[in-house]
Amino acid sequence: MTKKESCTINFNLPEIYEIQSYIEEIEKDPLPYEEKNFDTRIGVIDFIEFQVISQIETLLLKTIQPAQLILLKYRAEKVIAELEEIDINLFQKLQANIRTGGYKGKEFKTLINEYIDCNLDDNKHQEEPGYDNLDVFINGLSPFQAMPEQTKDLEPEMVYYQKTSARVVFELVEKAHFMKEDVFFDLGAGLGQAAILVNLLAGITVKGVEFEPAYCNFARDCAAGLNLPNVTFINVDARKADYSEGTVFFMFTPFKGEIMEEVLEVLRKESLKRKIKIITYGPCTAQVALQSWLHSAFSKDDNIYKLDIFTSL
Ligand SMILES: C[S@@+](CC[C@H](N)C(=O)[O-])C[C@H]1O[C@@H](n2cnc3c(N)ncnc32)[C@H](O)[C@@H]1O
Repeated sequence: MTKKESCTINFNLPEIYEIQSYIEEIEKDPLPYEEKNFDTRIGVIDFIEFQVISQIETLLLKTIQPAQLILLKYRAEKVIAELEEIDINLFQKLQANIRTGGYKGKEFKTLINEYIDCNLDDNKHQEEPGYDNLDVFINGLSPFQAMPEQTKDLEPEMVYYQKTSARVVFELVEKAHFMKEDVFFDLGAGLGQAAILVNLLAGITVKGVEFEPAYCNFARDCAAGLNLPNVTFINVDARKADYSEGTVFFMFTPFKGEIMEEVLEVLRKESLKRKIKIITYGPCTAQVALQSWLHSAFSKDDNIYKLDIFTSL
């Protein structure tokens, strides 16, 4: 084989026919184009990006006559752009409805069920902190997307930002049995998604406490962008926050060691004034479980990525 032949593909390659037939099939299928079929759309976009386009790009590296492949790539990208446009319009509409108070509590859950096939009523909890299509949908509801840069160094016992998956927040709201007068605090609120979601699902007042100013500003902008006046964020070290209104406190392991002990001591003092609940997720649960002033059904053999609810005695 000459050097030229070895880097030129034959245009009758079965791969090209296969790619072409994938694209034709997708172009003809009405399902991903129906607004409601969000799950299907995500699956199709992933398939085009990770199977079709990546296969075209591999073939493009091998050919010196790329016209047919370039055309197929253009068609594949066009389908993605059309499907993404449907999602952009969908989320603009849903954000506008949230702003006018259109989805509260049950209605919000019903809305999610309309777009995502995610068995929200199934009581099984997640065994690890993974994300799925429900997170993609909830991210879409956020009026801002680009994550801000961290501006402050964390102390060694502080834990970097990682969000609680949306599915876990749904489970939290199911298990917490909130009363309408409850005030929920997210300690180490990050970009504010968990706090905002609790407000949308339960309709109660929520407050996020976050050390990093850029995250706190982002969370405030999201709450303002969705017109959620009962969602506020406080840029303060959790050791120094004012918890006098709080009744339910959530911690997705925001800190550990001495910092956790100090925060728990502040919460213990609050518990002398009224009964409180502390909901934990992740490795911090084991440390919280050692507090003699708290009660829970926690067992040391439990998976650490199981929500635990502690009640003050
Ligand atoms: C694991 S993330 C949890 C994010 C959020 N609660 C959620 O569930 O999506 C931990 C967050 O705690 C914040 N953090 C760490 N130490 C803190 C402290 N002492 N006071 C307030 N926030 C803190 C970090 O900046 C980070 O955003």
